[in-house]
Amino acid sequence: MTESNSIAGATASNIDGEFLWGFWYPALRSEELRGRALVTSTRMDVPLVLGRDAAGKAFALRDICPHRAFPLSAGSCDGQTVECTYHGWRFDAHTGQCREIPSITADSKLQCDRIYAGSFPCEERDGYVWVYLANAEGRAVDRSSISPAPELPKFSERYRIAHLTADLACNMDTGITGLMDPAHGPFVHQSWWWRSRRSIREKQKTFEPIPQGFRMSSHTPSANSGPYKLLRFYSDAVTTQIDFVLPNMRTEIVRCGDRWFTNRTTVTPIRREVCRLDFVAAWNLFPWFPVTPLLRFFGKRFIAQDQGVIERQQPGLKVQPRMMLIDDADRQARWYFQLKAAYLASRQAGAPMTHPLDGPVTLRWRS
Ligand code: FES
Ligand SMILES: [Fe+2]
Repeated sequence: MTESNSIAGATASNIDGEFLWGFWYPALRSEELRGRALVTSTRMDVPLVLGRDAAGKAFALRDICPHRAFPLSAGSCDGQTVECTYHGWRFDAHTGQCREIPSITADSKLQCDRIYAGSFPCEERDGYVWVYLANAEGRAVDRSSISPAPELPKFSERYRIAHLTADLACNMDTGITGLMDPAHGPFVHQSWWWRSRRSIREKQKTFEPIPQGFRMSSHTPSANSGPYKLLRFYSDAVTTQIDFVLPNMRTEIVRCGDRWFTNRTTVTPIRREVCRLDFVAAWNLFPWFPVTPLLRFFGKRFIAQDQGVIERQQPGLKVQPRMMLIDDADRQARWYFQLKAAYLASRQAGAPMTHPLDGPVTLRWRS
């Protein structure tokens, strides 16, 4: 990442798509893991095999047998261990520890319990199986030292939840920069149900630092996008708050009296040049109204518009991998690059992370 200040109000960031280890990432939807089936998923170039133990608890192993690199996903799970189908070695589903090597004799000196398949802490939240990727090899981590997997905030007992997903043909930096870009809305997301190009107007938003991220402080949302107009149905004041937190997470909380709508978008690298966008929303608004099919219908189209621009950006980014980031519309993207650099530096130095924001900042742009 390099920055240049040769043009007033503009900087540049090289998009290197560097992976961030030491975070939870969504690997699968919970509903994809059924019974004793072994299911594969790739995240951050790590081939994973996921399954459920006899108690239904999800586990994730590196899908590479430590013996001869055979895919463990071709084997089977008995509820406690996963058996590699090449030579029958068995591995503990949660720790990856080798439990049995069928070819060794009773007097063998080989300590099979010192052999491990790579394994990753695994938790389920909001209909996703999350894996904690501390390193690419799945070397053991002190599980007591890692925070619980992220959970979408909910403000009532009863609520509805819906999920959307899309593959993005880009690296994580392009995907995230696109996710937090306020200026493309009136151009890319023009439609009768969202907003028109003519609706562009000046905005002013206040941001504050939060651990490993920044928050667009709680405010009354712009009246110029369709979905918020719906909330006028309720007479209470509407407030919205949007957080971005490393490595890849944007969370929005909309509240209107005791009604609420929350959503989270993550952009997770599958490989260097392909990401998975996961969107989950929960709400207790309009309980008498079929929100889920509407959200699916419009959400899919909305995401497809982003997917389209990202795809068309790729040939250009190959030739010109530097992005120009202007004030103030691209400042959030700049903070993302600064947070990422600060995180990588803190890992390298083994020191606490220095936050790029030292206090609240007000940004102004037109969108
Ligand atoms: S490759 Fe897995 S047991 Fe040999
Ligand atoms: Fe967008």
